[in-house]
Amino acid sequence: MQKLILYFSVLICFANCQSKKTTENKMNYYQEKYRPAYHFTPEKNWMNDPNGLVYYEGEYHLFYQYNPYGSTWGHMSWGHAVSKDLLHWEHLPVALEEYPDPLIGDSTMIFSGTALIDQNNTSGLCEGKGCMIAIYTSHVHKNGEGKMQHQSLAFSNDKGRTWKRYDKNPILDIKRKDFRDPKVFWYEPQQKWVMATVIPDLFKVRFYESKNLLEWKQLSEFGPLGDTTRIWECPDLYPLPIEGNPGKTKWMLSLSGGHPQGPKFVGMQYFVGQFDGTSFTPDDPKQAALHVDHGKDFYAGIVYNNIPKQDGRTIMIGWINNWTYGKQIPTLPWRSAMSIPRRLSLKEADNGLRLIQNPVKEIESLRTEMLTDSISSESSAEIEIELNTDSDETGIKLFKSELEETIIGYRSKDHILFLDRRKSGNVNFNPDFASIEEVNVIPVDGKIKLHIFIDQSIIEVFANDGDATIADYAFPEKADYKIETYSKGGKSPVFKLWKLKSVWINK
Ligand code: FRU
Repeated sequence: MQKLILYFSVLICFANCQSKKTTENKMNYYQEKYRPAYHFTPEKNWMNDPNGLVYYEGEYHLFYQYNPYGSTWGHMSWGHAVSKDLLHWEHLPVALEEYPDPLIGDSTMIFSGTALIDQNNTSGLCEGKGCMIAIYTSHVHKNGEGKMQHQSLAFSNDKGRTWKRYDKNPILDIKRKDFRDPKVFWYEPQQKWVMATVIPDLFKVRFYESKNLLEWKQLSEFGPLGDTTRIWECPDLYPLPIEGNPGKTKWMLSLSGGHPQGPKFVGMQYFVGQFDGTSFTPDDPKQAALHVDHGKDFYAGIVYNNIPKQDGRTIMIGWINNWTYGKQIPTLPWRSAMSIPRRLSLKEADNGLRLIQNPVKEIESLRTEMLTDSISSESSAEIEIELNTDSDETGIKLFKSELEETIIGYRSKDHILFLDRRKSGNVNFNPDFASIEEVNVIPVDGKIKLHIFIDQSIIEVFANDGDATIADYAFPEKADYKIETYSKGGKSPVFKLWKLKSVWINK
């Protein structure tokens, strides 16, 4: 009898304890300190560049550089998630994993690259109509030491769920240790595939063409130009609409490399010009560096392939982190996030066409209550605020407690928008983290309009409808912080704030 009671109580506890555990897990899911509520993060481990951004049959795919085995860089593989709205992501199993190379006895990591839809089966690898193809850098190494990089291909006939590596890989090999990050797209006017890759240490983008994705012929080279303070990585080439000029587009070549604050950090730059199917010609052949973002935490951004024509947007996602301190940021069990997806366009400025970036409109669906005030205590929110430029300096303080604050402010006399995270909380994990970011922004009708997204430890600022952006981490240590506005020599501005829902719980 006693045995029977014990047996039943074990059974009951088993059922109860299990369900209690599941509820607890659910309740705590994506609730750790610093865990963003609406920016993409992997459940655990290290992530860097977004890879293979492609839209296919109702799903936005996000592949990403991922270490399945640890919270710093290593064993690079392609992690995978899908979303119907660019916000709510479903985690899927790792798509492509580092593999031992039986031919050379070394190991091959899956570095950054593209995913595309081979709609007409130009590769002959699709069963039936189209299939998904990944073209990535195969990084051959021995015990972590890089030996060779070439471009390889994998294909999936079930919408990216399972993959086969092409058995005649690599598809492009120039026998170089550094040659990477292929971005491939369909070039409609000449009915062919075009690939942009980089030779990082020579600051060169190389263009190739192919009819079948398997055999590639070199077209041209671009660079060095602009910022050459850091090696070039992750190039992308795409047409962008010009605001106020319906139907008119210009080509944009964006890539990762140097940062506006010099060689200590990495950042992104861009060139506007023409692409004729063979080469890219910048509008200004002496182009000084134009940077994509002026924060420290926006890198390796690429745009989506295959967005339906009726949608027509060009959407970029970037990696929220910086190689300088990235592996030390105090977030565990995950490390790194992806930016809010950004819609890109161009605008005519005094000195040529300039990049405009705005958050995708889908993000409005996360809004809950709205308040209008000059003080609040939200930590995952969207804020709209207009700064009057008649005071010396004015702005907004985020994550503000007795000793901590992250300031977004505008200095009227030199037209500088800045983000100051020197006292933002935990800044000691790396000596280069505490910093002020600055960007020149010209007022429109005497005002600087800011659209700010805060998300536990991430801040993304869009100024004057996308003229300039700043993406930065901040790690406040005190939990009871506030948001408040200030003005030196004027009245403190008032903001409109929406609390944003988490995309990870109560889906
Ligand atoms: C950019 C990068 C790429 C490379 C990948 C490796 O952040 O260095 O050039 O493919 O990361 O993880």
